[in-house]
Amino acid sequence: MTADVVVRGGTVVEAGWSGPADVVISDGRVTALAAPGTAPAADTVIDATGRLVMPGGVDPHCHVGFTSGEFTSLDDYRQCTTAAVFGGTTTIVDFAIPRPGENPADVAYAQRAKATQGLCDSALHACVVEWDDTVPDQLAALVNDGISTVKMFTTYRGETMADEDTVLRTMTELARLGGMVVIHCEADHIVGDAQRRCAATDHIGAANMAATRPDLAETASVAEILAIAEAVDAPVYFVHQSTAEAVELVAAARRRGVRAYSETVAHHLVLDDSAYNGAHPERYVCCPPLRSSTQVKALGRHLFTGEVTTIGSDHCCYDTAQKESRATDVRAMPNGLPGVETRLPVIFSEYVVGQGLPATRFVELTSTNPARTNGLYPRKGTLLPGADADIAIWNPTTEWQITSTDLHMATDYTPYEGMQITGRPETVLVRGRAVVDNNTLQDPTPQGRHLKAGPVV
Ligand code: URP
Ligand code: ZN
Ligand code: ZN
Ligand code: ZN
Repeated sequence: MTADVVVRGGTVVEAGWSGPADVVISDGRVTALAAPGTAPAADTVIDATGRLVMPGGVDPHCHVGFTSGEFTSLDDYRQCTTAAVFGGTTTIVDFAIPRPGENPADVAYAQRAKATQGLCDSALHACVVEWDDTVPDQLAALVNDGISTVKMFTTYRGETMADEDTVLRTMTELARLGGMVVIHCEADHIVGDAQRRCAATDHIGAANMAATRPDLAETASVAEILAIAEAVDAPVYFVHQSTAEAVELVAAARRRGVRAYSETVAHHLVLDDSAYNGAHPERYVCCPPLRSSTQVKALGRHLFTGEVTTIGSDHCCYDTAQKESRATDVRAMPNGLPGVETRLPVIFSEYVVGQGLPATRFVELTSTNPARTNGLYPRKGTLLPGADADIAIWNPTTEWQITSTDLHMATDYTPYEGMQITGRPETVLVRGRAVVDNNTLQDPTPQGRHLKAGPVV
């Protein structure tokens, strides 16, 4: 029997193990992991000698064409997934965030329809801002349609912030349905107070971003939301946790049986608040803000210990002009950093190469666990037989420098400009097709599908 594709001679890296194996692919799926040299003949043979063969990355936190306030981020599904694939990511999880007056299900279904423009597959988080009698039916329909995770916010008052009662009811209902709340935690009253103090002394520009959203705002909100989850026995996933204390609160809750999970994002693991002292502080404005270098080190240590569950990008593709247009007042700025393409190389270089994080743990944090927490495992996040043949073939030793002009995101800057990187995904397969080969776009055909989530964790 002939296979469609065999990836031969590489070291397969899975979440729990790694070793030499040939990956056999037919009809877009992995059909076997064969001992080296024992794979059947194939129409296409990809030589992976000296390379790491990993399941494609799953980015659990990626905003595509995201409108917040007066700003819309600049990419669409084709652009975002092109950048994703170049960076070794083969599944993105986007958000459908309602604007005032819109209902969660309508917004989610409209966003879901865009998935076919993608070069790779995608899934979606819905979002609930306000509880009303229609929400339970909307949640039931969404979960039935494979949209099982719902983003909520404890900040951005007057826009997407939900009150505690709405969080509690949404959590309770989703737990009953087999879904899960994914939540952005910053206590808005503490943020509001910090912003008022900064504004009173005319320190409210981008350079002051860190002071406007203190670490304590995150800690306080995480504690409150954990209490709600524990009270109603619901699972909860904390997005973009930026402090070690916040991660430790979640880990402690997990130890007493709460189904609570921590997501960190690449920029909080690599960049620190000294970026706000530089020439373009507005380019680093995100919520939560970049933290102190001490905090970054402490947060990074939790990658090694199992306390962090996933690493996302929190990709938001604003450009410099958008960022600069409101840089004198962070309260009016577009928040978020472009990062879907750089998430994996930056973490691989800084943590696997630089600090000895096992490559197996890298895969677990950036692919397998995000697939699990989004109900996509074992179709995504693994190369075990039966999985989609989404594969990133990495050269672990190649050295390169990040510069925005070489990237594919629909913006004019990267927060990692000039960073020296070791390791890069060279060839990336989406369901068995080489979309990127030798760092070149090989197959620009949109083939994205919206993925229906199964039960989450
Ligand atoms: O600054 C951020 N994170 N912007 C994107 C929206 C969000 O809160 O995730
Ligand atoms: Zn958020
Ligand atoms: Zn600037
Ligand atoms: Zn986000």
